[in-house]
Parts: sequence; C-alpha cells; structure tokens
Amino acid sequence: MQILTLANQKGGCGKTTTAIHLAAALHAAGERTLIIDLDPQAHATLGLGCFVGRSPSLLEVLRGEVPAQSALRQLRPGISLLPATLSLGEFEEEATVALEPERALGHALRPLASSFDYVVIDCPPRADGVLTANAVRAANQVLLIVETGAFALQGAVRAFEIFSGMLESEGSSTPIQVLATMFDRRTRFARDVLIGMHARFGERMYDTAIRSSVKLREAVASGVPLQWTSPRARASSDFAALASEVRNTMSPSQIASTFLEL
Ligand SMILES: Nc1ncnc2c1ncn2[C@@H]1O[C@H](COP(=O)(O)OP(=O)(O)OP(=O)(O)O)[C@@H](O)[C@H]1O
Ligand SMILES: [Mg+2]
Repeated sequence: MQILTLANQKGGCGKTTTAIHLAAALHAAGERTLIIDLDPQAHATLGLGCFVGRSPSLLEVLRGEVPAQSALRQLRPGISLLPATLSLGEFEEEATVALEPERALGHALRPLASSFDYVVIDCPPRADGVLTANAVRAANQVLLIVETGAFALQGAVRAFEIFSGMLESEGSSTPIQVLATMFDRRTRFARDVLIGMHARFGERMYDTAIRSSVKLREAVASGVPLQWTSPRARASSDFAALASEVRNTMSPSQIASTFLEL
C-alpha cells in the first residue's frame, strides 16, 4: 500500500481537487484506491458527494474509537473514502494531551494494508498542525502541490523546506515530489513559473502539470470526479498522465522488496 500525502501550507493551491482526481485516476488505472479527508474543512468529503451524518468518520478513527474499516465509504467498487466532518478539528485540541497523537493515522491504516494499493491523503492548508504531521509520518511520498500563480516559487521553496525539515527530524527518507497545478500555458507568467520550478526542484518535479480547467471546478462542486462523467476531458487526461507517473515512481521500500524477491 503506497500512501501519498498531498500537502502545502498554503491555502487554495489545488490540494483537494488534485487529491480527488488523482485518486480517481489511480482507480481508473486498476488500483484499489482510498482517499482520506484529513482536513476539518471536509472539502474532499463534500467534493465526493458524501454525507456523513451520524456515521463514524476520520475523527473517531484517529481517536481509536472505531477501526478505519468501519468508517470507509465505498464510492465505486475499488475506490473508497475515509470521510471528515467539521469536528475533525477537535483532534488538534485533544492531541495536546494524547500520547504520540501524530502516529494515530499510521496505526489506524495498518489493518488496511492488504485492502488498498494506493492511499491519497488530502491535508489541511497548514504545516504545523498534528493532522498534517500524521499524514507526513504515514506517507511513502509527499506531493507538494503548487499553484503556478503569483509568488508560487517562493511559497513552494518555503513549503519544501518545512516538509523536508519535518521528515529529517524523523530520520525519514520519504521523498518529496512537486506537482504544478492550475497551469495556464497561454500566459507567459505561468510558463515562467513552471520553468523556475523545474530549475529549482529538478528531478523532484512531476513532468505532468495539471492544467487550469473550468470542468475540474465544476466536478468538485457537483460531487462527482470529472473522470466519471467526462473521461475524455483534457483534465481527465492530465490526471491519467499523473497517475501513470506516480505508478512508475517506485518508493525505496518497493525497490528494496523487489531486490529481495529477485
Ligand atoms: N486545475 C485546476 N483548474 C482550475 N481550477 C482549479 C484547479 N485546481 C483547483 N482549482 C480551483 O481552485 C480553488 C482551490 O482549489 P482546492 O480547494 O482544490 O484547493 P486546496 O488547496 O484544497 O484549498 P484549501 O487550502 O482551502 O484546502 C477551487 O475553487 C478549485 O475549484
Ligand atoms: Mg482543500
């Protein structure tokens, strides 16, 4: 099970839209996929048309009150959501008195290891909270999501430093990859930002840049991933290309186990 944590301390840079559509693209490629809404704004839950009501959600899972399995919502065969509600924010407060609260997600996901190939985690727009700390600790790869807009490069460099500092302090070798999104190739400005990102992050950049798309905005508002209504849309092919890059990027643990099998 590969755990992909989508993060940035900046708000509104496309984390949730990317999480939903990368998960749908991995699922379309035949991977058993789980999307986890780790944001108390619950945008991924809403963007997937899920109503939680009184059913268990991620908060109860992180508290250890219910197993993750019992909070899962199957969206379609092969793709599930671990939903959030606004009350997820309570976990940040409770964490001040909890034992190792930043390991709660990793523990909760362990029993699901044989049920899913990929887990895609949508983080809140902050790097300092215990929710993001959980996602970074649990990750096999951190995807830094960067909007190709004003101040993008400065923000991306700062976010990269924060997340690599978090991983280093853990002694973790989890890689950080960088994904450009909301790219509008018609503007010189966006092209320059993208060139700057490639110059700064080199091999860490995904070749795929997710282009700006009104259809993506509409899909999140309608509660259904774009691939399920318009598989041939330009944005659907962007995410298919990203999913294929993700699947080709092997983590160190996968490489190690491949060598052990040889
Ligand atoms: N590729 C895209 N093309 C066009 N619009 C996009 C794209 N990605 C995201 N958006 C739009 O940008 C806005 C912010 O996107 P999104 O909610 O995914 O960001 P976020 O990083 O999750 O925000 P937050 O920090 O609040 O969680 C939304 O209005 C969304 O529809
Ligand atoms: Mg979001």
